[in-house]
Amino acid sequence: MKLVHLSDLHFPVVFPFTSLKGKMIPGYLNYTFRRRKKYPISLWNAIVRKVQSLNPDSIIISGDITNVSHWKEYNESKKILEPVLGDKTFMIPGNHDRYTDIAAGKKGSDLPYYENFFSPWMGESIPLQNGYLRVKKIGKLALVGWDSNMPLSVLNAYGYVGEEIVHSTLEYLEKEKLDHYILICHHPIWNPPERQESSGHKMKNREEIAELLKKRPPLAYLHGHVHTNWVKYPDPGKPYYVINSASSTRISDQRHQSGFHLLEWNGTQFNIKRFAFSNEEGEFTETQMISYEEKETNGR
Ligand SMILES: [Fe+2]
Ligand SMILES: [Fe+2]
Repeated sequence: MKLVHLSDLHFPVVFPFTSLKGKMIPGYLNYTFRRRKKYPISLWNAIVRKVQSLNPDSIIISGDITNVSHWKEYNESKKILEPVLGDKTFMIPGNHDRYTDIAAGKKGSDLPYYENFFSPWMGESIPLQNGYLRVKKIGKLALVGWDSNMPLSVLNAYGYVGEEIVHSTLEYLEKEKLDHYILICHHPIWNPPERQESSGHKMKNREEIAELLKKRPPLAYLHGHVHTNWVKYPDPGKPYYVINSASSTRISDQRHQSGFHLLEWNGTQFNIKRFAFSNEEGEFTETQMISYEEKETNGR
């Protein structure tokens, strides 16, 4: 079984400044002047070609499709994503997709924008009293999606997943007898020692979540949010792969090792490959994985 993991696509969609409100204004200015030129659409087109040639059983996208959650960004992003939207696709939102109260569905009774545009590819929604839990089955594997995001001030990008969501997830997997699952959440549960996050950027309660997951660990935890790739091998504290495919569509530089991962699962173990854009070939090609084997106490 082959799974492709993409993240943080941050599509370059342009719209008039006059259509922006509140925190979207500094957010969009920052994006326009600092980031947009790092995201040429040609990289996305090359990803589509590579993904199609890999013919995966599933395409997983772990959030940050947009930049400031503008309705037009969603509209255009859906068109751009069209070649990879199908039965195999599983998407979760990132903090940039829940940028404002209105986009996050916290004003009035309208659906959040992400659900409005992408529900068919977000998996089955597991009914909970409160909160987000979505699942998609691919063969004997369950893909479990969490939403660690909420609208915050422009200076913050932290995440949080309630402990009750972890309990509900483990109960659901037990009840459905799903022994093998992959957890997909936008915020990292682990960082390499040299890429630690500030408290304004990280998932606040990730160590509590990691502790609860020990009862029934996933095979892998797929995420984005920090825009450079990595893979952590399973260790006693987090006995699963931690895989970061952000930011798949960004031009690489010293601090941003961009690309995406292919996970091949044979029923007992994973073989992971990394693909990055090759300037010489003008295509995504297999390249060296950026991997870590950590002791339990590192990378907290
Ligand atoms: Fe991002
Ligand atoms: Fe993010």
